[in-house]
Amino acid sequence: MKNTVATLKQQKLDGDKITMLTAYDYSTAKLMDQCGINTILVGDSLGMTMLGYEDTLSVTMEDMIHHTAAVARGAKNALVIGDMPFMSYQTSVYDAVVNAGRLIKEGRCQAVKLEGGAAVCPQIRAITDAQIPVVAHIGLTPQSVNAFGGFKVQGKSEEAAKRILEEAKAVEEAGAIAVVLECVPAKLAALITKSISIPTIGIGAGPDCDGQVLVYQDMLAVFSDFKPKFVKHFADVGTAMREGFQAYIQEVKGGTFPAPEHTFAISDEVISKLY
Ligand code: KIV
Repeated sequence: MKNTVATLKQQKLDGDKITMLTAYDYSTAKLMDQCGINTILVGDSLGMTMLGYEDTLSVTMEDMIHHTAAVARGAKNALVIGDMPFMSYQTSVYDAVVNAGRLIKEGRCQAVKLEGGAAVCPQIRAITDAQIPVVAHIGLTPQSVNAFGGFKVQGKSEEAAKRILEEAKAVEEAGAIAVVLECVPAKLAALITKSISIPTIGIGAGPDCDGQVLVYQDMLAVFSDFKPKFVKHFADVGTAMREGFQAYIQEVKGGTFPAPEHTFAISDEVISKLY
């Protein structure tokens, strides 16, 4: 059965942890869906993991729609969330609603995600009023990398922790259906989780959030440019891929691939007529 906003809400009430992974293509989304993942985020992290940019800032609406539509075709049960790229919602409330609408209409996801707290509450409210569920994202918000001066843990001082708690309450008040907490101290994330009624989804935010999200190339050790502290390798698919690619190269060069069982036959009679 398709997971919905109501499913996530119920999971928080039941204490049933929400599982979320990023995906950017049909085949990966289908595998995750078959494993029973609750939600799939088509993150703008695709700028780094799929497109090789050094941050998420260059990702476009067209990139997001293209990948979101592929994931949506592979996800029969998981709730698919499309990420709103940099400058697709910061510019105005109008732009935010138009671009959220494009992700839903063209990307066929069931919710959108955007970064920021109080500053984007008018956008969250307007998108929600347009009947599009919004997931908020606070703490370390990668689209603000230049304002933050790098990718750093957020909310360590009393003032910063208070601000993040207030932002969580503000996005809830604005109508967000869930909030991603990225790179905030575990005890702060636990307090936020208790203080709001919408689910919190943590990434580098400790075990007490209502759910967890990881970038799938990180948790499978496929992405090797850097490894954030909060990432655990659940499988070494990077090594398996390297071994597979090396074996293919060796067999092609050695003439052992393709073997007869990978080859299509034709009768000698037909071939002889071609000479
Ligand atoms: O873009 C992304 O993958 C994200 C997750 C890290 C939450 O925003």
